[in-house]
Amino acid sequence: MSLFLADEAATIEFAGKLHAALPEDTGGWTILLDGELGAGKSTLARALIRAYGHSGAIPSPTYTLVEPYQLPYVSIYHVDLYRVGAEEELRYLGWNEMDEGLRLVEWPDRAPQLAASADLRITLKYEQQGRHLDIEGISERGKRLASKLIS
Ligand SMILES: Nc1ncnc2c1ncn2[C@@H]1O[C@H](COP(=O)(O)OP(=O)(O)OP(=O)(O)O)[C@@H](O)[C@H]1O
Ligand SMILES: [Mg+2]
Repeated sequence: MSLFLADEAATIEFAGKLHAALPEDTGGWTILLDGELGAGKSTLARALIRAYGHSGAIPSPTYTLVEPYQLPYVSIYHVDLYRVGAEEELRYLGWNEMDEGLRLVEWPDRAPQLAASADLRITLKYEQQGRHLDIEGISERGKRLASKLIS
């Protein structure tokens, strides 16, 4: 599935649709957010975290690597692997301890083995003044969600 997002508002609107399509309990889900610098990965992650009910600040996880949010129905872990050099560093992030929550991962290509256990890959690309978004289901439940978003 693929669509054009003309501006930041369209990216935020898509996050709302994604939230509506995800199951109520998204514990254990992993969504990969791919795309080059400034493609809109954080914009999408922030809007999704807000859609889950967070109203405070959403700092960039670029330096902290992980920003956790304990929300009423789910824990969300906003992860940015940009500065992660080696896959072993994932261990220091406490990756396995985040498995009760929803993991949103920017720069997932820094740890290619993540793709095997993820549910969805969202890829953002520059297109004219806006962005082109691709969504690909990886797990079975991720594939079901991707097809739900098309209809
Ligand atoms: N659909 C869109 N069309 C045009 N601009 C957009 C769109 N979505 C987001 N933006 C803008 O893109 C800029 C960069 O966004 P953002 O920080 O989310 O990117 P990022 O992919 O997380 O970057 P980084 O690689 O540095 O983490 C922001 O100014 C945001 O407003
Ligand atoms: Mg970002």
